[in-house]
Amino acid sequence: MDIEQACEELGEDDIPYRCDGTDKAELCCTVTNNGREADPFPTVNMGKWGKCTRIEESELGEDQCDPNASNDEIKEQCNCPSYGWADCDVSDWCDAPEGMGCCSCAVPGRPYVDDSGKTLAAEVNVVGEVKLNQEDIPTVDDNNCTESNQNQASLGQKWVRNAIGEDASVASFAAFSIALMTNGAPSDLVEDALKAGLDEVRHASTSFAIASKLLGKEVKPGPLPASNHEFTHDIKKLAMAVAKEGCVDETLSSIELAAEIELLNSVLGDDHTVATKYAGIDKKTLTWIRDELQIIKTEESNHAKLAWRTFDWVCSIDNDACNEIKEQVLNEDMLEKAFQRRFASFDGTSETLAMMKDSWAKLTQI
Ligand SMILES: [Fe+2]
Ligand SMILES: [Fe+2]
Repeated sequence: MDIEQACEELGEDDIPYRCDGTDKAELCCTVTNNGREADPFPTVNMGKWGKCTRIEESELGEDQCDPNASNDEIKEQCNCPSYGWADCDVSDWCDAPEGMGCCSCAVPGRPYVDDSGKTLAAEVNVVGEVKLNQEDIPTVDDNNCTESNQNQASLGQKWVRNAIGEDASVASFAAFSIALMTNGAPSDLVEDALKAGLDEVRHASTSFAIASKLLGKEVKPGPLPASNHEFTHDIKKLAMAVAKEGCVDETLSSIELAAEIELLNSVLGDDHTVATKYAGIDKKTLTWIRDELQIIKTEESNHAKLAWRTFDWVCSIDNDACNEIKEQVLNEDMLEKAFQRRFASFDGTSETLAMMKDSWAKLTQI
């Protein structure tokens, strides 16, 4: 529950206060005037709840969340896309009231975030039955509860989420390219950002094709939601976005892809010791998915490198921006936290997780 929701539950004459007492859950408490003052005190001593400070109307923003809420609650508070990971960001830059965080939604690949800070993605459109030829994989039968059928259906859903994330990455690189040009970035960065956008177009169409075939229904992206951008001469803003969306999110995505490919290779290599979500799905399909993932992974790694190159360029021309980004996003603590958050529910082996952590430490050496 965020401050706004908590305060909605107060009576009309009650005033919301934030307390610094025993429990962080007491983010919002009621202080009634008891008829003493028309204008309530800015601070009040509330015994065990400690000193309470009145929450001003202007603080009750839409994009704030309670860092102690569960992932699902934050996802709902922050209106994150259904396939993303939710995060309540408590770093200084997000300018939240004390005890609160700012919404941040993570998605596979590079997220598309506009100036409001919202993570945007298209809706999924199901166009119709996919036309399968003889070479294609069997269609999912909704009434068939066999393991392979169920696995195929949930894998299909996972690929829909991937596809929507890839589709959003196209827009992300389009906006990034303009931001680079607006801030006078070297032409090789602009060129590679535009090329990366085209990579994402291919990733999206491949991912939709895989999802459609697995589900036996043709799925496509709908239009993106409306978004707001202001392209300004603000290198710190550009660096902050590239640090979070590229250096962190895309680097994590490329590590995740490497682990997925390793898993697929062991399934395809008849390693029966691994019971996986791929069980029962035919080898031809898995080989196709593995081969496409290899291409996507190589390109995603290049996108992550582009983000780090962009950050290096920022550091070469603006010390202030460079240090601030390191302090707020690209430091050991925040990077560790980003990894934990992303892979909190990783379902692979502990060896794979250790390997991923190792890659993350290497790739994020600053
Ligand atoms: Fe991608
Ligand atoms: Fe990418």
